[in-house]
Amino acid sequence: MKYYLLALLCILFGGCYYDVEEELYPSLDCATEGVTYSATVVPLLQDNCYACHDAEANFGGVTLEGYDRLQTYVNNGELLGAIRHTPGFSPMPNNAPQLPGCEIEKIVVWVEAGAPNN
Ligand code: HEC
Repeated sequence: MKYYLLALLCILFGGCYYDVEEELYPSLDCATEGVTYSATVVPLLQDNCYACHDAEANFGGVTLEGYDRLQTYVNNGELLGAIRHTPGFSPMPNNAPQLPGCEIEKIVVWVEAGAPNN
């Protein structure tokens, strides 16, 4: 039983470590130039998040549709916390695999540029 728990812990922490490494060393073939709100961020959210977070679904009282509403989650850190699976935030998309590293990277680049409405 003890060994089983140890193995489980290794797997869990191994997983976390891998995520962190992916963020520290983003893959070189992830093109993050020219990332914009309208051409990059909206389509990503549309495909992966609007099913639960457009104005109508509003799951968990969270609406990500519309620039002004999205700003709330950019500014309180929940958008990045959720997609990066940062401890303390609800991992998103809910009940689905984490977004590919390159897609997360694009959203991070947009947020770090000041989340412009472009
Ligand atoms: C299948 C439905 C579903 C999908 C798809 C989904 N979410 Fe959520 N989301 C929820 C629910 C339900 C909650 C509220 C309960 C919770 O926090 O777990 C939530 C909460 C959140 C929160 C608040 C987090 C917090 O820590 O309080 C954010 C931000 C969020 N989602 C972002 C996203 C993003 C970004 C995507 C797409 C990458 C996404 N969600 C996809 C269902 C979903």
